[in-house]
Amino acid sequence: MTAKFITLEGMDGAGKSTHIPNIIKMLGARGVEVISTREPGGTELGEKLRTLLLHENMHPETETLLMFAARREHIAQVILPALARGAYVLSDRFTDATYAYQAGAKGVAANKVVQLEQWVQEGLQPDVTLLFDVPVEVSVARLSNARTPDKFERESAEFFAKIREAYLLRARENPERFKIINANQPLDKVYKAVEAQIAVL
Ligand code: TYD
Repeated sequence: MTAKFITLEGMDGAGKSTHIPNIIKMLGARGVEVISTREPGGTELGEKLRTLLLHENMHPETETLLMFAARREHIAQVILPALARGAYVLSDRFTDATYAYQAGAKGVAANKVVQLEQWVQEGLQPDVTLLFDVPVEVSVARLSNARTPDKFERESAEFFAKIREAYLLRARENPERFKIINANQPLDKVYKAVEAQIAVL
């Protein structure tokens, strides 16, 4: 059984999305089905929730609940069926983002996230998580050159510092699952680092 659940994480501006086509190509070359998906989103309902989440202001706990509502649908409709078929599932963000953004940066109690995670995931965890890590100044500088920012991308450097810290804490707590990619180097070097991690999957 080849099925593997791979997630990509990092602050806005860390550059993770740039690498998705290459990762799909690498995995696809093995002749195995590859599903590329994202959170919040990944289903028709989840994409509607994404629009609300990225553009409406709401209480951080409402945000957390909607993230997990979208995730419940994503797991049931997309992730579990694909893993059952033996596919590789590549998700641009998953629950570590809720720990980083809603708990780490917005102050939602981590134990509430733990409860929702247990309820919604019933033990499902990524096999591997690539964390694209950059210093906060780099992320903020990249975002200021980017397209119109969404709600999360308009936040302050202090907010991003909390996100980075929370991600690095998740990585320390889950050392087997997390692979930290230094994304503060030329693109070809970052790509090589990603390639090295995918090659051993
Ligand atoms: P992102 O993945 O960066 O997509 P894009 O590159 O299209 O902007 O955007 C998703 C945003 O949602 C990002 O700012 C992080 C946020 N988010 C959370 O706050 N919590 C979550 O649980 C997830 C999955 C995402």
